[in-house]
Amino acid sequence: MNKKIKKIISKKNKSKIVSLTAYSKNIAKILDKYCDIVLVGDSLANVLYGHKDTHKISLDNIIQHTLSVKKGLKKPLLVVDMPKGTYANKRLAKKNARLILKLTKCDAVKLESNSKNYAIIKELVDDKISVMGHIGYTPQFKKKFKIEGDTKTKALHLLKEAKLIEKAGAFSIVLECIAPKAAELITKKINIPTIGIGSSIYCDGQILVTDDMLGLSGFYPKFVKKYVHLNRLIEKAVKKYTRDVKISKFPGKKNFLNGSRIK
Ligand code: KIV
Repeated sequence: MNKKIKKIISKKNKSKIVSLTAYSKNIAKILDKYCDIVLVGDSLANVLYGHKDTHKISLDNIIQHTLSVKKGLKKPLLVVDMPKGTYANKRLAKKNARLILKLTKCDAVKLESNSKNYAIIKELVDDKISVMGHIGYTPQFKKKFKIEGDTKTKALHLLKEAKLIEKAGAFSIVLECIAPKAAELITKKINIPTIGIGSSIYCDGQILVTDDMLGLSGFYPKFVKKYVHLNRLIEKAVKKYTRDVKISKFPGKKNFLNGSRIK
């Protein structure tokens, strides 16, 4: 097992795991100093490409964005989402996970659970591929965005799912939009770290889509805390630039390439 993965597992019950998404080098460079885990998520489909769901991201899309992220990242564990359809059976999952690892040199892949694909996780782990699971609201398989595990029966069902993913060999599990009591139960009952998104403070770590917490994506459900309104800051800068161009204030003398040679 990769050293970085051992370190993530060792944080359970000791210190919180900080995770965010990245799709490009410039953001990755900023996250590098602070995050334990950086995920190249298939949320890329909605956030960057403007699709209505995460389904249309191809293997090549995610590989290209991971190559960009990799250029800005040294320290954190780099996890890559396997796009919908790329792990539909054991053979396909192995072929595609190997390709992602070979081309990007990432540390692990993430697979969403459809409550049936435990054997696929095991197949990858047996092939020495590190896997992060994902339960609760799983956008690749569930149409409707809703809170998961909000009754005792549903919470126990999610716990069973988490245990089967742990048994299959995953090194951690994302809990998405899971009711606080269920998230707490799962976190207490399994030995691998849980990374929550919209699933309360009881998880071993947290993840958010970076563009959401920066106030850039326009998608702000209650569980997203906006740490800055980057859209407003960018608009302010663009407005100033527009004015400068219109009144011939930009480029100013400082921006002239005096002395530089035109090649
Ligand atoms: O695709 C993604 O960004 C994710 C996170 C929301 C966990 O899966």
